[in-house]
Amino acid sequence: MSDLDILQQQLLEQVQKTETLADLDAIRVSVLGKKGIITEKMKSLGSMPTEERKAAGKQFNTIKNILAEAIESKKEQLEEQEINIRLAKEAVDITLPVRPEKQGRIHPLYQTYDEIIAIFGQMGFAVAEGPDIEDDFHNFTALNTPKNHPARQMQDTFYLKGEENSEKFIVRTQTSAVQIRTMEKQQPPVRIIVPGRTYRCDSDATHSPMFHQVEGLIVDKETNMAHLKGCLIEFVKTFFELDDVPVRFRPSFFPFTEPSAEMDIGCCRTNGELKIGAGNDWLEILGCGMVHPNVLKACHIDPDIYQGFAFGIGLDRLAMLKYAIPDVRTFFESDLRWIKHYGFVPLDIPSTGSGLSMTGGNKR
Ligand code: DAH
Repeated sequence: MSDLDILQQQLLEQVQKTETLADLDAIRVSVLGKKGIITEKMKSLGSMPTEERKAAGKQFNTIKNILAEAIESKKEQLEEQEINIRLAKEAVDITLPVRPEKQGRIHPLYQTYDEIIAIFGQMGFAVAEGPDIEDDFHNFTALNTPKNHPARQMQDTFYLKGEENSEKFIVRTQTSAVQIRTMEKQQPPVRIIVPGRTYRCDSDATHSPMFHQVEGLIVDKETNMAHLKGCLIEFVKTFFELDDVPVRFRPSFFPFTEPSAEMDIGCCRTNGELKIGAGNDWLEILGCGMVHPNVLKACHIDPDIYQGFAFGIGLDRLAMLKYAIPDVRTFFESDLRWIKHYGFVPLDIPSTGSGLSMTGGNKR
């Protein structure tokens, strides 16, 4: 037996005896690594006479391949062993009882959000979105509310701190800003609703500094006030799940619509209870009107060709009315008991029937 054969024999025995992957890797490095025994032998080839080098090269290569193969197959064997040991240790006890599953609830605001989108979706409205942080132009100026216009005082605005002398950004006071952003990008026909967060400096049982609105906008050549009324009456009936709802449109003022109106629905208030859809009292639920020509002009749309209507709904207020939630602040308190009571099971279909009631009157 040559020295080389003996070496090969010894190394193969070492490999066979190894019990862990870490040890095996150490052997691999000591044999085939950069400074390994076989690698060093390969390096010595350079200094050998040519005839000797050929034969030695062949031998070294053979031994290298035999060892590499042995190490590889030992590795596979050890890996399988390790898996088997782990499987034995980590055995799953399938007789254990199932852990009780905790199911989340859909927040009533988002339930309302989805209902409103579905109703207007069926009427052909697309959903548009815009940023919560707005500039003065989109939130006010382009909506026919220039600087120093008294109508700006209708909305207690949160201004963001900015560099001195630079433009001050705000958190949007109304989703109406997205009317402008949409018409800047899209020529009529436009038919969108904009559900989203809005902000005003106000807080009590019926006002929260952060609240939600759904804006609606249609612009094309022939849309008129009758379409506005038909669309909103249909919406209210579907939303409150009533066959008929008495409605009334009261003249009002919004800078971005002319004429402007507020829509009231019939209700009755007895013993602190509010019943929607019947009675001789009225409840204001939204603002609306025909888009002011100045708004169209600000978006480079010709008001002699196009016209349309817009409306703004307080989403929180509608959710409060439909689901009898008396205090808007509870929407945002993250109280699990509250969400368990008022929340919806995913894929739940809201209970139907008229006469949904609540105590108190809430407004926004
Ligand atoms: N932006 C109004 C507000 O926040 C609501 C509103 C009223 C929106 C009339 C409209 C509208 O688009 O036509 O008070």
